[in-house]
Amino acid sequence: MIIGSDIIFRENLPSTNTYASQILRNNNSREGTIIHTNYQSTGRGQAGNRWESEDGKNLLFSIILFPSMVIPANQFTISMTISLGICDFLERYIPVCSVKWPNDIYVNNDKIAGILIENTIMGGTLENSVVGIGLNVNQVKFMSDAPNPVSLKIITGTEYDPGKCLSQLASDLDKRYKQLISENYVLLRKDYTSKLFRLNEYAGFRDQNGLFSGRIVSVTENGRLHVELKSGSVKEYSFKEIEFIL
Ligand code: BTN
Repeated sequence: MIIGSDIIFRENLPSTNTYASQILRNNNSREGTIIHTNYQSTGRGQAGNRWESEDGKNLLFSIILFPSMVIPANQFTISMTISLGICDFLERYIPVCSVKWPNDIYVNNDKIAGILIENTIMGGTLENSVVGIGLNVNQVKFMSDAPNPVSLKIITGTEYDPGKCLSQLASDLDKRYKQLISENYVLLRKDYTSKLFRLNEYAGFRDQNGLFSGRIVSVTENGRLHVELKSGSVKEYSFKEIEFIL
């Protein structure tokens, strides 16, 4: 086992991603080390947002990885790998989940988990990767203005043991990470594409030209999204160039 070979637990932290980056700067940490906490005072989300999580209710952790086999141009494969590991875990408990491109984990139209990946690239190689995961397990009320949070408990009505969830999730992430190590990009991309939220379904989107209807048809090797318009033409988007209308 690589992911979860070492687990560092702290009752509370400002942010597990920030703590993991400090460890990386200060010593030789082992690949796969997990930094796990019950509460983050300044949990970080994508695009500078805060990540809300009630004390002790959910999974909040970061993984230290050294994905030297991934060239920087292919760093999106890490997002695919992690998204799939989380879906594999969730599908132990619920019938299906999906990945809202690029890496929000959804159940129906609601977000159950977020991923914040911070890669360090030096001299043209991927030196290390801090993979932060926030997965809503037992929280039932959300206070922030995040539009559509959901948790396993809201969906199933059951309370879960977060410790058991962490070890199962680490094992599911580890299996997917081994597919990445063996450079099984074709399988990872095929599985990732099949899990895409709104794949092949006409839905509303917004880009720099305004609202439009289209359907997601694929993702490129470097993670760009292909959306087909009703006219049959296909547009390609990078992160932040397109917004889903929910
Ligand atoms: C998102 O905005 O969707 C990404 C959320 C990522 C949250 C996790 S919680 C553990 C780790 N530490 C952080 O500060 N953020 C990530």
